[in-house]
Amino acid sequence: MRVIIVKDTDTLGKISAGLIAKEMRKSPHFVLGLATGTTPIPLYQELIRLHKEEGLDFSTTTTFNLDEYVGLPGDHEQSYRYFMNIHLFDHININKENTFVPDGMAEDIDAFCEEYEAMIKDAGGVEYQVLGIGSNGHIGFSEPGTSLSSRTHKTRLTENTIEDNSRMFDKKEDVPTEAITMGIGTILDAKRILLVANGANKADAMAQAIEGPITAMCPASALQLHPKVTFVVTEDAAAKLTLEWERPQSRKALSV
Ligand code: GLP
Repeated sequence: MRVIIVKDTDTLGKISAGLIAKEMRKSPHFVLGLATGTTPIPLYQELIRLHKEEGLDFSTTTTFNLDEYVGLPGDHEQSYRYFMNIHLFDHININKENTFVPDGMAEDIDAFCEEYEAMIKDAGGVEYQVLGIGSNGHIGFSEPGTSLSSRTHKTRLTENTIEDNSRMFDKKEDVPTEAITMGIGTILDAKRILLVANGANKADAMAQAIEGPITAMCPASALQLHPKVTFVVTEDAAAKLTLEWERPQSRKALSV
């Protein structure tokens, strides 16, 4: 497990994008797993810069997003498809036909979830999975209490998550109560995993995820089982960690 503690979100974006770009440049048909939320935005901004200024090529990249709200169509401003378009896909040379976000409008959601798993498998599996974290330790929308070997499924959002995410909607009642999410088992199948976290409200979840016991009560703690997981965490989100983790002074010091 690698934990990199950084001073601000700009550095978080640069270091995490650098780690991904390094792997992407090695493999022409890269399969990238993506996350939404405010934390990965600086990472996407840096990927866009790397594309525009340093030739990072997405033309043969395939992406799979972690999750989507049930009941929101892709053109809804709070849907995760919309988020991905405006924060990343519209600014890089990716073929949108190769970008996959769970379909929150699917008629048969269970069948869709099975199909999503099959699509990831057919693409050769996710090579680098980006994750954020909820203040309750969720990854994607895999909420506390989820099976640690779960696959893509429909989930009911906890009151805590609805409250956290209501800041994006006009009112709390507008937040969908259900979502489709990759399961913990799906996420752990990725060859590499990168979790980004920022803000004091993530400090408890980060301490539990990185230094706590592996438990379904903190789904992110399951990442301790993965051989190639990196956490890039700002100082406030890392405030409750007790071990001596990496604190690079610059991106260069890390050679990413
Ligand atoms: C949502 C997403 C998660 C994300 C979380 C944190 O709940 N489903 O994948 O990690 O938000 O978002 P933020 O980075 O804005 O705190």
